[in-house]
Amino acid sequence: MKELLRQMTTEEKLGQLVMISPFFFTHHEQKQLTGPLVELGLTEDELYFVGSILGIGSPEEMIKVQEKYLKRSRLKIPLIFMADIIHGYQTIFPIPLALASSFNEELVETAAKIAAKEAASSGIGVSFSPMADLSRDPRWGRVMESFGEDPYLNYLFSAATTRGYQGKNIKEKGKIASCVKHFAAYGLAEAGKDYNTVDLSVYNLKQNFLSGYKGAIDAGAKMVMNSFNIFQGVPAVMNRYLLQNILRAELGFNGIIISDYNAVKETVAHGVSADFRAAAINSFTAGTDIEMASATYFKVLKELFDQNKLPLKLLDEAVLRVLNLKQELGLFENPYKDASTEDHNKIVMSDKHLAEALKVAHQSLVLLKNENHVLPLQQNAKIALFGPNSAEANLNGAWSWHGYRAVNKTLKESLEETNSLALIEDADYIVYFGGEKNSESGEAKSKTNLDFPEAQLKELVALRKYNKPIILLIAAGRPLILTEVEKLVDSIIYTWFLGTKSAAAIRETIFGLNNPSAKLPMSFPRNCGQIPIYYNHLPTGRPADGIDDSYRSAYLDSPNTPLYPFGYGLSYSQFKLKNITLDSAVIKPEQAINLSVEVCNCSERAGYEVVLIYLRDLVAQVSRPILEFKKFKKVFVNGKSSVNVNFQINQEDLVYYNSHGKLVLDEGEFELHVAQASNKIIKSFTINFLK
Ligand code: NOJ
Repeated sequence: MKELLRQMTTEEKLGQLVMISPFFFTHHEQKQLTGPLVELGLTEDELYFVGSILGIGSPEEMIKVQEKYLKRSRLKIPLIFMADIIHGYQTIFPIPLALASSFNEELVETAAKIAAKEAASSGIGVSFSPMADLSRDPRWGRVMESFGEDPYLNYLFSAATTRGYQGKNIKEKGKIASCVKHFAAYGLAEAGKDYNTVDLSVYNLKQNFLSGYKGAIDAGAKMVMNSFNIFQGVPAVMNRYLLQNILRAELGFNGIIISDYNAVKETVAHGVSADFRAAAINSFTAGTDIEMASATYFKVLKELFDQNKLPLKLLDEAVLRVLNLKQELGLFENPYKDASTEDHNKIVMSDKHLAEALKVAHQSLVLLKNENHVLPLQQNAKIALFGPNSAEANLNGAWSWHGYRAVNKTLKESLEETNSLALIEDADYIVYFGGEKNSESGEAKSKTNLDFPEAQLKELVALRKYNKPIILLIAAGRPLILTEVEKLVDSIIYTWFLGTKSAAAIRETIFGLNNPSAKLPMSFPRNCGQIPIYYNHLPTGRPADGIDDSYRSAYLDSPNTPLYPFGYGLSYSQFKLKNITLDSAVIKPEQAINLSVEVCNCSERAGYEVVLIYLRDLVAQVSRPILEFKKFKKVFVNGKSSVNVNFQINQEDLVYYNSHGKLVLDEGEFELHVAQASNKIIKSFTINFLK
C-alpha cells in the first residue's frame, strides 16, 4: 500500500477521506447533479477521487457504481461501501435493546453474522454498528439502538456484534468490517434530547462510558465513528483528547476514525470553528480520518499541505489506514467483493435466516407480569384481540432501512392462522397489543412524555368491564412508564420491536411454545421525574433507607426504586437458586475464587434462567456503586431438575478508576451478591482482597 500511496497526488489522497452517497454516481443527468454537487462543493471530475460510499441498495447498484468509478479513476483504487446495518439487513432481528435483553452473547453474535452475510451479498463492506453508547435515559430515542445501561453488558454485546460481522478474516465471503459508534458518550445527551450537550467527568467516562466501545475494539473492530456531542466543551469530531489520548493511546485503536454525518461542518454551529475551513483543520488534525457526507477536507486541506502548513505525514497516515482496510477486505483483487445478484437472492431472507430471527426474538421479549400464571394459554383458548399494534405488520423497529417487509405478518394474521379469534363476549381472554409505533424511537426521536399512551389506557379501562383476564403486549423502542397500566392487566409481555418474525414469536410465547427468558437491560422508571434511573448508582451521604429523618435522598411524591429494575424478567418456569457456595472468602493476586450455584427448576416446564453476579466495593478512593454487575450465565434447565453453574472471581473484577482517571486495585472488603435481578439478591458474601 505504501507504493500506491507514493503514486498518489495530494488531491487523490484527500479524496480517500471523503464519503458521499451513491446518488452522485447513479443520477447522471447534469441538471440533477447540480444541486447536491454544488452543496458538496465537488465538480463532476472530483467525484472520481472519492474514497467511500454511504449506503447502497442492491448488488446491482453496487456493481454499477463501482464499475463506473473504476473506469474513470486514474489509480483504480476501489470504492468501499458502508451502511447502517443495525439489527439485520433484510432479515430483521430484534432491536439492539431487545437483543441485550436476551442476555445471550451467542445469539447476538449469530444475528450479526447473518446480517453481515446478507449485507455482504449486496456489496456492503462496513457496517456502522455496534452502537455502544451506554444509555440511562429512555427519553433519548436512540436507546433502542443501544445495549442499555450497564457497562459490562455493553462490553460483551459490542464485542459479540463485532465478532459476528468480522469473523476471523474480513476478506472471507460473508464478512464485513465493524464500525463501533459513537465515540464517545453520545448516550448522555442532556435531558435525553438528541444531539444535546454532554457533560461528563473523565473518571466516569472511563468507569462507565468507554466500556462498550472497548468491547468492540478488543474484538478487533476496524473503524470507530465519533459522536455529534461535545466532551469537555469540544465536539468529539475535533476532540484531540478523546481521539488521541483515549481512543488511540489508552484503548490502543489503530483503525480508521470516521466522523458522523456532517459533524465536521457542524463544529461551526457548536461555535468552536469559525468557518468550514477551520472545521476541516480542527477535525483532521485532531484525528478524524474520513469525513462523512461533506467534503471540506478535500476543498480546504490541499492548499495547506501544498504550502507545508500541515505535515503531509498526517495525511499519509490517514490515507494508509483507508487503503489498508480496502486491502484487508480484498477489494484490490475483487472490487465487488461478495456483491452478486445470484448469491443475494439465495442468501437473503433464507429459511435458515428466518428461523434464526425467530429464535432470537423468542429470547428477546420480556415477561414483566404474569398474575395467577395466566400465561401461557391453552392452544384452544378463545381470544379477543385489540390494540393498535395487533394489525401492524411493521414491527421491525427503527434502523432497518433494508428490512424486507412483505413477509411480515401482523399478530392478527398470525393468530388467525393457528387459532380462531373470538368476539369479546365469547372470549376467554383479552389480548391487547399496544405501545409505541415503529417511528417513535430511533435517531432524533426524543420524548418528554413516556407514559403508556393515554388512548390505549382508556381502552384497557373499558375492556376491564368484561371481567376477563387481560394480556397486555407492549411494543416499544424504549422503557415506557407502565405504573398505571400495570395495575389494569393480568399479564404483560414487553415485546420491544422484534423484527421480521415478531408476530410468530409473540404468538408462540402466548401459547407456551416459547418460554420467556429475557431480562431488562435498562431500568423501567415509575415516572419521568426519576430519569435518569439506573441500578449501578452511587450511594449518597443520606440514603433513603436507613435514615429516620426527612433530610434524605428521596422524593416527596415517588419511591426511589424503579417499577422494574435492571435484570428483571419472568419465566413460565419457577427457578430457585440453591446451594450457593464460595470456596474462599479471600482473593489474592493472580488467584481466583470459585462460586458455585445450583439452579433448580421447581416447575414442570423447561426453561432458561439467568444467574446474575454483582459486586460492591465497600471502601475505596472514590465512592463506588451500590451494585456493579460483573458476570452472568444463562442456562437451560429441564422441568423438575437442576443445573450447576460456576463462576470465577479474580482481581480483575475488583479494579476501578480513581478521580485521576487511573485504574487502581485496593485491598479491602467487597460484597459479592448472587441474584435473579438487581432487586432480587438471593445470597451475599463478604470477600476480601489481600495483596
Ligand atoms: C447519523 C447517525 O448518528 C449514525 O449513527 C449513522 O451511522 C449515520 N447517520 C449514517 O447513516
